[in-house]
Amino acid sequence: MEKIVAAIVVCCSIIGLASAQLKVGFYNSSCSRAESLVREAVQQRFKTDRSISAALLRMHFHDCFVRGCDASILIHSETGDAEKDAFPNETVRGYDLIDTAKKAVEAACPSTVSCADIITLATRDAVALAGGPKYDVPTGRRDGLASDITEDRLANFRGSGKPDPTMDPGLAARLRKICGTGSDPAVFLDQGTAFVMDNQFYNQILLKRGILEIDQRLARDRATGPIVAGFAANGTAFQRSFAMAMVKLSKTGVLVGKAGEIRKNCRAFNPKRGLRV
Ligand SMILES: *[C@@H]1O[C@H](CO)[C@@H](O)[C@H](O)[C@H]1NC(C)=O
Ligand SMILES: *[C@@H]1O[C@H](CO)[C@@H](O)[C@H](O)[C@H]1NC(C)=O
Ligand SMILES: *[C@@H]1O[C@H](CO)[C@@H](O)[C@H](O)[C@H]1NC(C)=O
Repeated sequence: MEKIVAAIVVCCSIIGLASAQLKVGFYNSSCSRAESLVREAVQQRFKTDRSISAALLRMHFHDCFVRGCDASILIHSETGDAEKDAFPNETVRGYDLIDTAKKAVEAACPSTVSCADIITLATRDAVALAGGPKYDVPTGRRDGLASDITEDRLANFRGSGKPDPTMDPGLAARLRKICGTGSDPAVFLDQGTAFVMDNQFYNQILLKRGILEIDQRLARDRATGPIVAGFAANGTAFQRSFAMAMVKLSKTGVLVGKAGEIRKNCRAFNPKRGLRV
């Protein structure tokens, strides 16, 4: 999970004015159980699937970076041209957990809590369960009315994964073995504590154990090297920066007030107002 964590810490700064309308505890009076219902659903899932924390982080990040944090990533398209379809569906997962949380919240307070807020809250809770920071995150987001594969800048945005001379040779050999099996290979980008939200990623790239070349470069680049060294040396500093970056990320391009809608079903626009897809 550290790969996506590093991306969030490094690059979140695009925040619109609408985000000023988000409030910690937005649902205090309209749906006082909203946050606890989401948390219960996440806790339940985490008991049997610790990879859910990384999955939600990834979903939240990808949702926020296309059209803002508006749950457009959840829209299911019969024709295959929604934002969701730009990713192989095994890499952005957790849709069913969002459905479970949404169902619980709808039963308590119908048409009140947005899917965009549910993704944000569930990600926050899953990060804390994995040993990450506990932080307050503002809510009040509305769900978007469009989801389009062609806006997806991120589809061409992956690292190459090629072993290179800056990689620890032992690790390179092991990866060649895993990748030469013929089956669909998968390795953890964090070779140590893959299911724990910690600063190990930074220690590992200092030890030349980054899996992706682009990660490894973070440690060697003059601009990012000192940040990597600082986070590697001080886990508390990392956790604090991470929490602040997550709150910033969650404010990216949000819809508030009367914009957008509160979806009944996170995977579909509400009837009548549906535009595309
Ligand atoms: C909701 O309640 C919490 C805890 O009492 C408080 O910190 C927060 O400011 C409240 N938010 C709103 C919008 O009323
Ligand atoms: C992944 O996508 C394929 C093709 O759209 C679909 O048939 C399959 O059910 C999806 N799998 C999951 C787990 O959503
Ligand atoms: C680690 O970072 C925290 C938070 O920034 C800071 O308060 C603390 O003094 C740092 N510890 C060391 C040993 O530098």
